[in-house]
Amino acid sequence: MTQGPLTTEAGAPVADNQNSETAGVGGPVLVQDQLLLEKLAHFNRERIPERVVHARGAGAYGTFTVTADVTPYTRAAFLSEVGKETEVFQRFSTVAGNLGAADAVRDPRGFAVKFYTEEGNYDLVGNNTPVFFIRDAIKFPDFIHTQKRDPYTGSQEADNVWDFWGLSPEATHQVTWLFGDRGIPASYRHMDGFGSHTFQWNNEAGEVFWVKYHFKTDQGIKNLTAGEAAVLAGTDPDSHQRDLRESIERGEFPSWTVGVQIMPAADAASYRFNPFDLTKVWPHADYPVIEIGRLELNRNPQNVFAEVEQSIFSPSHFVPGIGPSPDKMLQGRLFAYGDAHRYRVGINADHLPVNRPHATKARTHSRDGFLYDGRHGGAKNYEPNSFGGPAETGRALWQPYDGFGAGTGDHPTPLHAEDDDFVQAGNLYRLMSEQEKERLIANLAGAISQVSREDIAERAIGNFAAADADFGKRLESAVRALRD
Ligand code: HEM
Repeated sequence: MTQGPLTTEAGAPVADNQNSETAGVGGPVLVQDQLLLEKLAHFNRERIPERVVHARGAGAYGTFTVTADVTPYTRAAFLSEVGKETEVFQRFSTVAGNLGAADAVRDPRGFAVKFYTEEGNYDLVGNNTPVFFIRDAIKFPDFIHTQKRDPYTGSQEADNVWDFWGLSPEATHQVTWLFGDRGIPASYRHMDGFGSHTFQWNNEAGEVFWVKYHFKTDQGIKNLTAGEAAVLAGTDPDSHQRDLRESIERGEFPSWTVGVQIMPAADAASYRFNPFDLTKVWPHADYPVIEIGRLELNRNPQNVFAEVEQSIFSPSHFVPGIGPSPDKMLQGRLFAYGDAHRYRVGINADHLPVNRPHATKARTHSRDGFLYDGRHGGAKNYEPNSFGGPAETGRALWQPYDGFGAGTGDHPTPLHAEDDDFVQAGNLYRLMSEQEKERLIANLAGAISQVSREDIAERAIGNFAAADADFGKRLESAVRALRD
């Protein structure tokens, strides 16, 4: 049974969708064939700019359920009661590849969760790694340029990647992580997620806590070796995307146990290292992970373009009781995402079904712009007004930051005793079994041996030697063996 006649965009029935209208049999095509013109013109405009990073990804809807009382730490309503459920939309991604890139590559994975709370959407835009390559947003465009295509060759270049990492010793911890076993997850379901940054929680009394989020996969960690990934990337480029969709179709809903590390505000100034430095983890011995919830993905999007490609996540989307920390990376990100959304999806991106609040209503005085749907009707578009419009609450989402010194330079002030680029990279190496170390060194050597200049390779190796002498020595001989 047909659903009724095929129509034009304006709804008029279409007589012939197989042949253009011509001036007589075999004659030239007529400009009066509006269906043809409409189809060709619409087709030319099907693409929007892909995300400048994390272009390649997949998403799903689900549910977050609170499993512990966290009201002593945050007044966020969606976290206010054990058993409380909140709808989520989550998008996973790789970082460097373009929209059509293969999934099974060595690259961090994006782990972005949108909580549709009754106080507005809360976005946690994290990764599958607890740390990052750099600690200041001002280096991000340079860093990403080295991960993307070289202006001359049009390809990703080992020289650029290792030049930047060698000259940015703070990357050593994340690079050690990335070239270890967890650097290529077997799927989006078989990896952990992290909020990565330190965030602020504040409770009803206005007390401040610094927190880090952890999402532990209930499917267990599963990774690919470099060899397995190379085959899979070639034979099944959509491996992660398909795995996520099919597991949900089968009713095998992936889930994560959600936890937080909580640091009382007073600890920050005197902690061993700067607790807002994104290149470092907080050792669990200092701040244990406390379980607070469960995240389950249980519904596939019906239209990938509408719901995944046009989805927008921003680290600046907070709700009452949650806010930023002075982490210099996070501060830069608070600007970057909204700006990217306005360019990539447009000024009314927040109005799309996947992006708008689901458990409350957005009540702003902003209006109009491309593709405005008239949602505000005739309501007044200014404040203050005498017509009962929405009004400000007088209470900020987060507490003001009580800084402990002003300063510039690579490290935020004050310097903490262990503000160092190498200690945690060395600790990670020393934690590994002999087999893990062998694979790490083989992965790193394989990549560094592609570099064309000796000084770039030496500097890169030098950072691993600074993390651990044995690490540096073994890496140097492995690189030499491949280059000779
Ligand atoms: C995507 C900027 C660091 C995780 C993006 C996008 C931009 C961006 C512009 C594309 C947004 C869009 O078009 O929708 C930056 C800047 C950073 C930074 C300037 C550093 C200052 C990070 C870090 C993480 C991260 C540290 C994780 C801890 C993500 C994720 C996405 C993303 C998961 C994809 C979101 C989605 O699925 O739509 N980033 N980023 N980024 N970024 Fe970052």
